[in-house]
Amino acid sequence: MKLPQTPSLRLDGKRALVTGATSGIGLGAATALARAGAEVHCLARSNDQLDALCGALAEEGLSARSLPMDLTDVKAVADELAAREAFDVVVNSAGMARHSAALDTSPEDYDAVMGLNLRAAYFLSTAAARRMTAVGKPGSIIHLSSQMGHVGGIVRAVYCASKHALEGMIKAMAIEWGPNRIRINSICPTFIRTPLGEQTLADPERRQWIEGKIKLGRVGEVEDIMGAVVYLASDASALVTGTSLLIDGGWTAE
Ligand SMILES: NC(=O)c1ccc[n+]([C@@H]2O[C@H](COP(=O)([O-])OP(=O)(O)OC[C@H]3O[C@@H](n4cnc5c(N)ncnc54)[C@H](OP(=O)(O)O)[C@@H]3O)[C@@H](O)[C@H]2O)c1
Repeated sequence: MKLPQTPSLRLDGKRALVTGATSGIGLGAATALARAGAEVHCLARSNDQLDALCGALAEEGLSARSLPMDLTDVKAVADELAAREAFDVVVNSAGMARHSAALDTSPEDYDAVMGLNLRAAYFLSTAAARRMTAVGKPGSIIHLSSQMGHVGGIVRAVYCASKHALEGMIKAMAIEWGPNRIRINSICPTFIRTPLGEQTLADPERRQWIEGKIKLGRVGEVEDIMGAVVYLASDASALVTGTSLLIDGGWTAE
């Protein structure tokens, strides 16, 4: 009997762009992709942090380049991607939260959260897909969404709105770009211990809410996300598009 080949999780020879690469989940993604063999281009605003990241990856003998940019400058990002060789993999982990009760949300906070979590994600996707399409290259675009793209949560209407919208965007783009073999998916984590969620996790009342909802009984770590990034970037997920991979410890199971 001929046994089937297990698809490879290796990314040797692939070019990957990771936004928000200097902290939290993006740092995990950049590290995981580099260790899987990809040449990783790391995007964030802080040059110093990017230098520190590329230095740390180089110490492991891994290939990384720095791309200091503000992702919300969608024209600059589109121009930069248009001038570069097409990426095989894009992981968009730059994101933000400004939590407030819905009745208290200011237009400024609304615009900031939607501007990065949705608008910048939208135009990063189109810039990456345009370049892939131009050279006929298949690709995988992965957005860090959230379990809050599937359910509601306490004092986070804007954040939930941005992530639910991101989920819809991914589905629509997957329909358009499937024929070009460009896959687009999201990873939807529960609370992960990173600088982004520090304040929420430090609040005992919120912490109780969170630990009560996560059926596996613990907050997530960056390492809980790294395998999913490699899976969605690799040929192991060749038939996966327009969907989301929930890594929520069972939060949305009830
Ligand atoms: N942590 C969680 O509990 C959790 C749960 C579910 C989903 N998520 C999602 O996962 C993603 C990553 O979260 P995280 O916790 O890893 O966040 P984080 O630790 O705060 O890291 C954010 C990263 O994004 C970069 N960044 C922020 N604004 C940017 C901009 N305008 N342009 C370019 N880069 C920018 C930051 O670097 P610079 O400041 O130098 O630019 C940093 O590298 C977000 O989309 C978040 O919504 C997080």
